[in-house]
Amino acid sequence: MKSPIIVALDSATQAEALAMADRLDPARCRVKVGKELFTAAGPAVVEALQVRGFEVFLDLKFHDIPNTVAAACRVAASLGVWMVDVHAAGGEAMLQAARRAVDSVSLPPLLIGITVLTSLAEHDLPRIGMQGPIATSVERLARLAQQCGLDGVVCSAVEAPVLRQALGAGFALVTPGIRPAGSAVDDQVRILTPYDALQQGATYLVIGRPVTQAADPAAALHSIFDSIVHP
Ligand code: C5P
Repeated sequence: MKSPIIVALDSATQAEALAMADRLDPARCRVKVGKELFTAAGPAVVEALQVRGFEVFLDLKFHDIPNTVAAACRVAASLGVWMVDVHAAGGEAMLQAARRAVDSVSLPPLLIGITVLTSLAEHDLPRIGMQGPIATSVERLARLAQQCGLDGVVCSAVEAPVLRQALGAGFALVTPGIRPAGSAVDDQVRILTPYDALQQGATYLVIGRPVTQAADPAAALHSIFDSIVHP
């Protein structure tokens, strides 16, 4: 089975990220490179991870005019990454341009939409021009992403059942906020265990600190993988 685990390499330097990657098994996880690491280390860190056998989720959450996002997506796709993401709130033209851009390479990455950032609370929405419950906005933006040909969205595992029902089996749900039973919650609010998140309809699990801050990251990853395969 191809592992659904994506380990977030939230490091400030390439050396740190690669030291962590060297403790992980690419047969048990993919890795996520976010804004901090990519700003510090650029495409070189992506390539170094690929050389080590990892598939890379380049999590840069592009959000700009369609032409600019398309150009960025084309470059990201040409790095050979496995997954890239854009803000669904960038609108239909931007999402369609992103789709066409990633499809310009022979092995396109999965193109994933961000709906509503989970750091936003309901009371924040009116101040950024959104009304009503967060779940309604999440579903609306996820539907837009699907209509524009995106492969999935990032969402909380708590939102996964509703989105799975609304968007069907083939749409990828990428879920952070995952905590193995008994591990520190950190600053996450709505958390699920890896097994429960998959049961709720998640396709991929983004897991950071429970692996990267563990005394033995390899053992932590192994145990999470086992909890999914042999629950
Ligand atoms: O360490 P932890 O498991 O909380 O890391 C989760 C990763 O997922 C981090 O890289 C975080 O930025 C990211 N993320 C998140 N919640 C979102 C979107 C992304 O925690 N809604």
